Amino acid sequence: MDRVEGTSEPHREWKTIFVTGGAGYIGSHCILTLLEAGYTVVTVDNFTNAVGIVKDGHSCVAPSIQRVEQITGKKVIFHHCDLLDKKKLSEVFAEQKIDCVIHFAAMKAVGESMQVPFLYYKNNIMGTINLLEVMAENNCHEFVFSSSCTVYGDPGDALPITEEHPTGGVTNVYGRTKFFIEEMLKDIYNADKRWNIVLLRYFNPVGAHPSGIIGEDPTKPFANLMPYMAQVAIGTKPSLTIFGTDYETEDGTGVRDYIHIMDLAEGHVAALSKLKREPSLGLKAYNLGTGKGVTVLQLVHTFERVTGTTLTLDLKDRREGDIVAMYADPSLAEKELGWTAKRSIEEMCRDFWKWQTQNPTGYRGDVSHMIPAAKSNLSESATVSLTNGNHSAVNGH
Ligand code: UFG
Repeated sequence: MDRVEGTSEPHREWKTIFVTGGAGYIGSHCILTLLEAGYTVVTVDNFTNAVGIVKDGHSCVAPSIQRVEQITGKKVIFHHCDLLDKKKLSEVFAEQKIDCVIHFAAMKAVGESMQVPFLYYKNNIMGTINLLEVMAENNCHEFVFSSSCTVYGDPGDALPITEEHPTGGVTNVYGRTKFFIEEMLKDIYNADKRWNIVLLRYFNPVGAHPSGIIGEDPTKPFANLMPYMAQVAIGTKPSLTIFGTDYETEDGTGVRDYIHIMDLAEGHVAALSKLKREPSLGLKAYNLGTGKGVTVLQLVHTFERVTGTTLTLDLKDRREGDIVAMYADPSLAEKELGWTAKRSIEEMCRDFWKWQTQNPTGYRGDVSHMIPAAKSNLSESATVSLTNGNHSAVNGH
């Protein structure tokens, strides 16, 4: 084995990455980037929060993954599998040697999590425990966790926020699952130093692959700002509610750190390279954000300018549980992962709009809406199966 320059650590050749929640928004973009970086990808999803299509009356395929295959010209090994089904998870995991796991699968709607906390704790936490056990049983201890800046709670004036900022104080169930899993991973690492773990704390991922072929499902009941805005722009929704115009910010609206989904995806490849280079990295957290705070109205106006649309706005009171402002100090990721977010707010709006206009109902459109390659793959499909209401399973982030 080669040695890493300046260290006694051996270079590790990694080939196969296991991705949970691969059919979801972040998972599918990340898989695309992994394939382009030369990795083989094995992925599982259970379609709680991603569209699956029933083939031959029994097996399921994911249109998002099929489209990734179409864009890259590479195959993805896909299994319809719930992380709560540990037996099946063990079987699919053991089919090949896995070098590292990237764990996206989780339920992630803040509002919903307050209504069905059991489901969030069961799916997110038990799913993660099953996954970690299966990894350990297969002697795989390399792990990238899809975390969130929500673990910092309300940062107050401590902005931009660094990884040193204390975590906890999270006010919603979804965020607490991320926080609890981070804490659990720290304990697991402390007990067994074979684990090598990167926690990636995402800020607000938006946008889509520039092809417009893959993107975020715009029809979910608990929509984030950009998908909702785009639905208003195409006329599916009458107006965009602005939650709060009296915050102490530049224009009175909330501030967030919006990051292009492709930048975020590239952050995962950078994290893998770090783990590969440093077999005794231990456990490290990195912020994945741009470092720039943008208000709701700034995002809305940029979106209108880039897309040539005008949105009807409905100015309302603050949304319960919202924080005023959150943006990253991303310098640690730049220093240690060699990664920075490169794409602008304009590109985030342009790419999301391309996806939205080409796919007004996301992957749920009738089969005639689907791209030709995906359509031909679906020729045997009986139905577009929307399992979103079925909360028995775990989704792609
Ligand atoms: N907003 C509106 N109108 C909308 C939707 C959102 O004004 O219809 C505002 C919110 O009040 C907030 C901003 O737009 O100021 C962004 O809201 P999002 O719902 O898009 O995102 P959040 O920042 O609330 O939450 C996101 C993810 C969470 C994650 C969190 C971390 O959805 O999963 O970032 O900060 F935990």
